[in-house]
Amino acid sequence: MSTPPTGKHAPAPKTEEHLHLADRYIAHNYYPLQVVLAEAEGAWVTDVDGRRYLDCLAGYSALNFGHRHAGLLDAARDQLERVTLTSRAFHNDQLGPFCRDLADLAGMERVLPMNTGAEAVETAIKVSRKWGYDLKGLPADQANIVVAADNFHGRTTTIVSFSTDPLAREGFGPFTPGFRIVPYGDPVAMRDAIDEETVAVLLEPIQGEAGVIIPPAGYLPAVREMCTENGVLLIADEIQSGLGRTGTTFACEIEGVVPDMYVLGKALGGGIVPVSAVVSSDEVLGVLHPGNHGSTFGGNPLGAAVGRAVVNLLQTGELQERASDLAGVLDAGLRKFVGAGVVEVRSRGLWAGIDVEPTLMSGREMSERMLAKGVLVKDTHGSTIRLAPPLVIEQDDLEWMVEQLGAVLDEAR
Ligand SMILES: Cc1ncc(COP(=O)(O)O)c(C=O)c1O
Repeated sequence: MSTPPTGKHAPAPKTEEHLHLADRYIAHNYYPLQVVLAEAEGAWVTDVDGRRYLDCLAGYSALNFGHRHAGLLDAARDQLERVTLTSRAFHNDQLGPFCRDLADLAGMERVLPMNTGAEAVETAIKVSRKWGYDLKGLPADQANIVVAADNFHGRTTTIVSFSTDPLAREGFGPFTPGFRIVPYGDPVAMRDAIDEETVAVLLEPIQGEAGVIIPPAGYLPAVREMCTENGVLLIADEIQSGLGRTGTTFACEIEGVVPDMYVLGKALGGGIVPVSAVVSSDEVLGVLHPGNHGSTFGGNPLGAAVGRAVVNLLQTGELQERASDLAGVLDAGLRKFVGAGVVEVRSRGLWAGIDVEPTLMSGREMSERMLAKGVLVKDTHGSTIRLAPPLVIEQDDLEWMVEQLGAVLDEAR
């Protein structure tokens, strides 16, 4: 096990200096913990003052394979020596193989590459609307998409139009119409919301940002069935839940559900470059024609080379197996605290949401206290924290993290 930080290195002059710069020059659209990271390897990161921390957020799942994974760095370095950007005005020799391998991994036929998660979600929205007009014959501008309350799909104006989080919405109107919001996990509400002009249901199979909310068993299969019955596309936003996090390649697999479209991002870029994609069928992605949609950086050879290396890692199934093997350690470790400072634990694979007893401390305070113990975690809402360590984490390190959590709870009680 790596040596944990002692937390006794104060004062931390370089940290102070960077916090000052951040406060003065960076837009305050985030409220980061007071740690300034400078280096990283695997599941561990080091700050500018030389203190080490176990990264149990992993870039909100963008670092599923750990920091600076050797194979992914090799793929990036090789590509840096060749060509990094071509634009889609020309072909490049990385994009075809990447899209073939990704389609194959997902059991789909075609890929539309983008960069960030939000862009991929936007792409899925546009494609499903066009599919509705071109193939279902809906009247112009009448398509609707059903989404879930407490969703998180990104930050664009259209996406925040169907957010239920006031902080994400307020001050950003006017909003994009065409979305219906139903409670997450309620198949009856979903059925009631679907009508003849519904083109798609857009869901996270597990809601990450909301606090790792797992829908009731049978919900996803029920939604799959009603989508099929009504000729509606099921879009699975697996940007955070996908690519090994839950112990399966896609979280949908846990319930044996195959969507019509996967929306992927985060870990697809190996924590090195932003790479996102919509993965679907010939029929669905076939509605797009030259000029309908695009992105200057989407499908760039550097991103495609890294993305392909990511897909190749996942093709072996080893990381999914690792997440699945360690899932029990994480879950059992955390469950011990239920009734002892923790109200509820929800976990799948190496992903957990923990509701801390609100009278004890807020999620923010919990994150700060974990930071002092040498563990990076992030609160979501209120008293909930989210754990998403890199899938390459050592079992000893995972157990050590659980011990630190126990110590923080003990000290607060
Ligand atoms: C489920 C889900 N969808 C979409 C996004 C947006 O991705 P990005 O921040 O890369 O735009 C996120 C980011 O947290 C997410 O968790």
